[in-house]
Amino acid sequence: MILALMQTPVPRDIDLPLPVGDFELKLLLVVLFLVHIFFVNLMVGGSLLSVFFEILGLSAGRYDKLAKKITETITVNKSLAVVLGVGPLLCINLVYTLHFYSANSLTGYAWISIVPLVALAFLLAYIHKYTWEIWTGTKKQLHVLVGVFSGLLFLFVPFIFLSNANLMLFPGEWHKVTGFFSSLRVGNVFPRYFHFLSASLALTGLFLAGWFGRKRYPVEKYLPGFPRAELRRLFYRIAFYLTLAQLAFGPLLLFTLPFEGLSRELFLLILLGILIAVAVLLALRWEIRSPDEKIGRLYIGICFLFSLIVLAMGTGRHVYREVSLAEHKKLVEEASIDFRALETATRLSIEAGYGAGEAVTVELTGERVFLNCAACHAVDRVLAGPSLEEIYFLYDGDPKGIADWARAPGRKRTEFAPMPAFAHLGDEKLRLVADYILEKGGEAALNQ
Ligand code: HEC
Repeated sequence: MILALMQTPVPRDIDLPLPVGDFELKLLLVVLFLVHIFFVNLMVGGSLLSVFFEILGLSAGRYDKLAKKITETITVNKSLAVVLGVGPLLCINLVYTLHFYSANSLTGYAWISIVPLVALAFLLAYIHKYTWEIWTGTKKQLHVLVGVFSGLLFLFVPFIFLSNANLMLFPGEWHKVTGFFSSLRVGNVFPRYFHFLSASLALTGLFLAGWFGRKRYPVEKYLPGFPRAELRRLFYRIAFYLTLAQLAFGPLLLFTLPFEGLSRELFLLILLGILIAVAVLLALRWEIRSPDEKIGRLYIGICFLFSLIVLAMGTGRHVYREVSLAEHKKLVEEASIDFRALETATRLSIEAGYGAGEAVTVELTGERVFLNCAACHAVDRVLAGPSLEEIYFLYDGDPKGIADWARAPGRKRTEFAPMPAFAHLGDEKLRLVADYILEKGGEAALNQ
């Protein structure tokens, strides 16, 4: 972990006061995020179920009506998802500025394309909703196609979000990432994605079981051919099987998480979530098997338990993020302290009448200059170039040889890429770094 972090330049923090404390912001982030993701889940789950039932409806007419009624909920949920997305986005900007923006810029075009893709998905969702009664007959296929296409977009956009949220957790891997597709190799994007998808469908199933099952909903008028109890059972089943799928995807997600962010709190939260999920499954099964006149009695209880699961998982997500970023945040903090000290010293020296930088010269040492070389050379290990120990055996007593090489490197070892030249460092720095390399390489050789 630390090694991986050393390969990535560590930025310093942007030292600006926050409007409220760190804790309050994080609390807000978790709560607002959960509210937002609730509607995102309903939007994604709704658009998938609507396409599914519309296709079923091609041969069994009553499903077409059901699909249409589901579609009517999507655009409302979509608006809520978007509006409620602003809050968590602002919080994450403030609390994880460096990590969030680094991930944004590393996923580049994909990240920016979220805006046009979401706009397109929304347009298609509206077209799909408003042409339901107009595009019939031969145009029905076109109508289904619009639904499928908007469903695919709703599937793809969360994927970009997820890869971004995933990438921000692993600063040690940033140096390997060259865009969206290579970001998919970091962490465990795919198990996360399937976890998200099955959660979306499970939640939508539960929501629709309540939506169509409630007493005030005129089922006979809107959905002829569907007794209320059958509708409830249908959506309860969807919630049941997808919650079951969660029990498979959840552990898969957990066990593919990079090790550095795992903690006891996370395990406990997830265990709690799993236990409640088992209770939800039992309650759903009981409901599905209830006689028609009794079905629905556990609905509120199931929703309550389901919210607890979501809360446990949402908190777990936050705990994981905190732990996996702790090391990097510490490095950033150190870089910030160094910078602030230098800044204060400069300000004081200017106030005392010196020219900027005059009274504050950073002491030049071989160790400092070696930062130019450290990405490729380590003391007793081969990185992108030979170890300092090996260099010591080649150049013991000859620092000038090292400086000459670094000024204009030759080509010796074909298993490595060529070394870049460091003539721009100048004679003094090259001499310092040569001494430093021989000193460190010599120590390593002695310790053998
Ligand atoms: C981008 C990676 C990289 C950086 C940065 C780098 N080197 Fe190298 N260095 C190499 C590689 C690769 C080789 C092996 C080249 C070969 O054998 O063809 C090498 C070889 C060397 C050698 C051995 C030369 C020999 O005669 O075998 C010395 C000495 C050396 N580097 C010094 C430095 C110093 C000093 C710096 C920093 C000022 C530095 N290197 C920075 C990649 C790097």
